[in-house]
Amino acid sequence: MSGNIDNLLHETRRFAPSQSFQASAVATADLYERAADDRPAFWGEQSRELLYWHTPFTTTLNWSNPPFAQWFEDGELNVAYNCLDRHVLAGNGDRIALYWEGEPGDSATYTYAELTAEVKKAATVLLSLGISRGDRVAIYLPMIPEAVISMLAVARIGAIHSVVFGGFSAESLRARIDDAQAKLVITADGGWRKGKVSSLKPAVDDSLTIGGEENPSTVEHVLVVKRGGNDVAWVDGRDLWWHDQIAEAETEHEAQPFPAETPLFILYTSGTTGKPKGILHTSGGYLTQAAFTHKNVFDLHPETDVYWSTADVGWITGHTYVVYGPLANGATQVIYEGTPDSPHTGRWWEIIEKYGVTILYAAPTAIRTFMKLGRHIPDEFDLTSLRLLGSVGEPINPEAWVWYRDVIGGGTTPVVDTWWQTETGGIMISALPGVTTLKPGSAQVALPGIHIEVLDDRGEPVGKNSGGLLVVAEPWPAMLRGIWGDPDRFIETYWSTFDGKYFAGDGARLDRDGDVWLLGRVDDVMNVSGHRLSTAEIESSLVSHPRVAEAAVVGASDETTGQAVVAFVIVRADEGGEVVVTADDPSVDTSALAAELRGHVASQIGAIARPRQVFIVAELPKTRSGKIMRRLLRDVAEGREIGDTTTLADTQVMSIISGTVG
Ligand code: WTA
Repeated sequence: MSGNIDNLLHETRRFAPSQSFQASAVATADLYERAADDRPAFWGEQSRELLYWHTPFTTTLNWSNPPFAQWFEDGELNVAYNCLDRHVLAGNGDRIALYWEGEPGDSATYTYAELTAEVKKAATVLLSLGISRGDRVAIYLPMIPEAVISMLAVARIGAIHSVVFGGFSAESLRARIDDAQAKLVITADGGWRKGKVSSLKPAVDDSLTIGGEENPSTVEHVLVVKRGGNDVAWVDGRDLWWHDQIAEAETEHEAQPFPAETPLFILYTSGTTGKPKGILHTSGGYLTQAAFTHKNVFDLHPETDVYWSTADVGWITGHTYVVYGPLANGATQVIYEGTPDSPHTGRWWEIIEKYGVTILYAAPTAIRTFMKLGRHIPDEFDLTSLRLLGSVGEPINPEAWVWYRDVIGGGTTPVVDTWWQTETGGIMISALPGVTTLKPGSAQVALPGIHIEVLDDRGEPVGKNSGGLLVVAEPWPAMLRGIWGDPDRFIETYWSTFDGKYFAGDGARLDRDGDVWLLGRVDDVMNVSGHRLSTAEIESSLVSHPRVAEAAVVGASDETTGQAVVAFVIVRADEGGEVVVTADDPSVDTSALAAELRGHVASQIGAIARPRQVFIVAELPKTRSGKIMRRLLRDVAEGREIGDTTTLADTQVMSIISGTVG
């Protein structure tokens, strides 16, 4: 998509806020000026207004030891109390917090009072299992209310959650359990996906036995929610049913205040090496930005809106814009267990009609998929309740943006394209509805209180009408506080490119108005359907297969998913054999082997990492110093003419590869 930037910049459609929207808009233009005067003071003001502090803070930002920021450090709060109890105490206990919709069509609702009661019970269960402040709890659940309840229960007692997306494999789960040294795993027997029960507990069982008795895990208990109804194996003493524990739980639990910098969660994300990074977020600053952005970017009117983010809790969007932002703001929201096409392709639109959803936050890849399926599907449903649409996870092309507004938003709703990352914790760049004149395809402007720059290689701002690297030039409240257990990697990864500034890994261009257009990753991180994957992680999975001698993975552009994983591998004649096979060797069934390797990656990392294509090749293009030239492989994968090959050690190699692939 980045290749089309010149076309994008010719996009001239503009959508000014309507008067009626403006009349009741939450965000106002003066926020920018107020923030610019003194950013930390602005965040302090927002924090006091949006959150309840048991002990008010007297300082805002402490940046005396960069890049290790402390926000509101002498204040104390309880994150779960902010998301639950205080709404009940304010008289809003009867307001719906969650409308949960299961994939098969079963459903449940939780008011704020009910959700608070459930979280209190879950918190006392955690305490009775010996979980205390600072302990890590892995959560491996489908999109069911217990996912939200578990996260809040962990937060309530000052422990740290590490949610692992249910699509990850047993091995990926174990790597995350080990890295964080989790004492407890909360999982389910299974959940509904694509019309059937997809099991989860067996993956937990497998993950905990990886490496045998010599490799015991730190996990003491596995708490299992009954959802799928599938049979599961049981380890007595270790495994416990959630419903049994909850039935016996203490019902009262008073939330204790914790210092603002108390760790709240670790969320693993792919980086440029094979090992995922445990991104660490803390409490007060994170919750401040979560609440501020959720309120202002989504124009939240908590008394009347029904908000729906389609993200899974396994990703950062599910943390900030399903759990913490909406609940801190006392919003009513929908959560949905399943996939958009089960049992039919109108499932999302049916849910919007059923609950009268007013605000929808979704990913471009889904929007492009619906666009392909055609407007007759959403047209069958009443979507007139919608008044605001959001997009996240990857650049949204102007065509998809306009389709989203016209077909889903009835031609009237603002569409906010929100740029941010697991590391930033909350939205950083987005239009403010009611304030900003919208430009399809551009994420537009830094939010009030956020300082974004686009720099050239020397660290100089590029100015309008030019492209460069996107950085955050000043600390912000929801910023990551580190990589779990690896401060050096934290500094090296984010803070060493430009002194004192956070380098996000994305390229961006400023148009002639100074609005930001995202150009995608500039490193070896791919973005497939809005999910981050590392080329190195998939390569190391491929070479762990006994037949693979060498592998190179690229993200090739894909019309629907943004990017797709394409692998080029050199294979051996037999397991461990030295003889390398050429692509046209008749003794090897290359298509069967390619299928096997695709499956191998899916089982090692998870189905989201399964390569779209695996090409068996005889050589990989390398520079004289041995670095694989992924740029050339991307040319092949995208069916383009091969670019400049003069720095290749062997200039013949590309014609051999294109011969094989083409
Ligand atoms: C990409 C997801 C363009 C970007 C919240 C970033 C986007 C990565 C946008 C972070 C957007 C996210 N426009 N690109 N609106 N939003 N990205 O950590 O490359 O899963 O670096 O966080 O997604 O992905 P992550």
